[in-house]
Amino acid sequence: MLFAASTQRTIGLVILAIVFFGGLVYIYFNIRSARDEIGSELELASNRKPYLSDEDLEGKKLDLALGTSLVLLTITAVTLPLYWLGEPGRHEGRDIDTWRIFTNRGEEIYVEGAQCVSCHGPEGSGGAVSTAITSASGEFVAQVSWKAPAIDTVLSRYTEDEVLHTLNYGRNGVMPAWGAGGGGPLTDQQLEEILFYLRNIQITEDEIREQVASGVEDGAKDLIMATSDESWAVDLRAAQASADEAAWAVRLIARDEFGFDCAAADGVPECDADMAAREALKTSNSAADQPLQSAFDAWWADVQSAQQTAREIALEADPSLDDGGNEEKWRFAALEILSTPDSFEGQAAYLQYGEILFANEAAAGTYSCARCHTYGWSFDATGPYMIEANGTDEAILDEYVQGGGFFGPNLRGGSTLDQFETAAGHATFIERGQAMGAPYGRGGSGGNGQMPGFGPLTESNPQGPGMGPGTGVEFRYPALLTADQIDAIVAFERTL
Ligand code: HEC
Ligand code: HEC
Repeated sequence: MLFAASTQRTIGLVILAIVFFGGLVYIYFNIRSARDEIGSELELASNRKPYLSDEDLEGKKLDLALGTSLVLLTITAVTLPLYWLGEPGRHEGRDIDTWRIFTNRGEEIYVEGAQCVSCHGPEGSGGAVSTAITSASGEFVAQVSWKAPAIDTVLSRYTEDEVLHTLNYGRNGVMPAWGAGGGGPLTDQQLEEILFYLRNIQITEDEIREQVASGVEDGAKDLIMATSDESWAVDLRAAQASADEAAWAVRLIARDEFGFDCAAADGVPECDADMAAREALKTSNSAADQPLQSAFDAWWADVQSAQQTAREIALEADPSLDDGGNEEKWRFAALEILSTPDSFEGQAAYLQYGEILFANEAAAGTYSCARCHTYGWSFDATGPYMIEANGTDEAILDEYVQGGGFFGPNLRGGSTLDQFETAAGHATFIERGQAMGAPYGRGGSGGNGQMPGFGPLTESNPQGPGMGPGTGVEFRYPALLTADQIDAIVAFERTL
């Protein structure tokens, strides 16, 4: 690159020198021949210098002039189209360069400059930040670990302008404000560079489906573990409780005597008890693997059969639903039934499925609704949760209320029924999300577009650009949730 640039420059300088000195030589001779004429003024009038005769002009001189023009014309005729042919390539080259440079700079900011990586994980895969919870009056309550959602899917749920809004102004005090607009340290250009990087780390549809499904499986297994009456589940709960108790005892001892380090507490009976309890838990855990998997499979079959039952009930009420072309009508008729409490026996599993999706833990909660609609979910204050850091054993929250509202509004007590008259309208809203400044539902205000769109992308949430020019990768941002998954969440929300 450097070599090429300096060669070009050298050639340019040489040509400039030739033109310059050639010009000087020309002027010199011109002036000299003009001077020569001075003496001839006696024979000729001053403006009557005889020029070449016709014979001289039409001979070699004319041939030379014409020949030279022909050569120059040929050169122009050949090189211009060649230059033109190379133009798209040059454009593409420049695009690729911009794309590479911006992406690299964005990565540099993500990893080093702003250290997004410390909270959002490598390549935006999700993480956590340690933060202090304070009471309404500003008193310290507890130090907690707050989920920082994966942002390797962020362009599936937000337009780039909406992402810029969060980057500029931060969120809830846990996501810092980065842009100059929000008093942060980064310039608009640097935010733009981060966007380039984000475009390049977005994961594929298959990866999204897999993550959502594994979050559902984990959530369902937790639910089964917590509620099943089977003996293996009862035993496992007991083992878990005794391990927790031992761990708690050890933590209290370690905190008082060893500064949180059980390794330094070798030989302390409580520490040994904790180790034994953990070993026992591992054994009972693996013994429960098989029955837990079977219980999960049975639950999943219940979910699907509930969906099927709702479709059948809908069809009974309106036999035209299975005429061709009525698929969407059928979907929403079934959803209306699933969203009405106590519609039929077996509906419960379906509503559980909705709640598990609502609070999906996968990828640091990136697919969940609870992270914005339930206070405490992001720092795992979902159960009887004890404060350790400040040494008391009071719960952080008086009450944990699923869907009770936080960054997004309260969804309980029929409020979503008021906002969206039909389950279909409700589902469409979840699919598209809140477009910046646009009203929704009956009285939804036009906010900053911070309610993400979870469904296949539509006009209000347009598909993103290709992955980058010249890479051969055309990347379209896929939906976070399928229509089936959105329906289950809607049914859950409408029965809250
Ligand atoms: C100190 C930790 C921390 C750092 C550093 C940080 N973030 Fe965040 N970010 C968070 C947390 C926590 C949230 C979720 C906020 C909430 O739960 O309300 C978040 C939310 C976001 C969101 C919204 C995602 C969504 O789907 O709701 C985006 C986008 C984002 N961060 C991008 C970035 C980028 C880019 C950087 C670096 C310039 C960055 N963050 C640096 C903690 C951090
Ligand atoms: C990143 C935060 C965030 C996440 C995640 C999120 N929401 Fe929201 N949600 C909001 C905000 C903010 C609003 C209010 C929008 C406005 O006023 O412009 C909202 C509004 C809503 C409303 C309308 C409520 C009303 O009464 O007006 C519903 C319903 C809703 N969200 C459901 C969901 C569901 C279902 C999910 C998960 C699939 C979800 N939200 C995930 C932030 C979020």
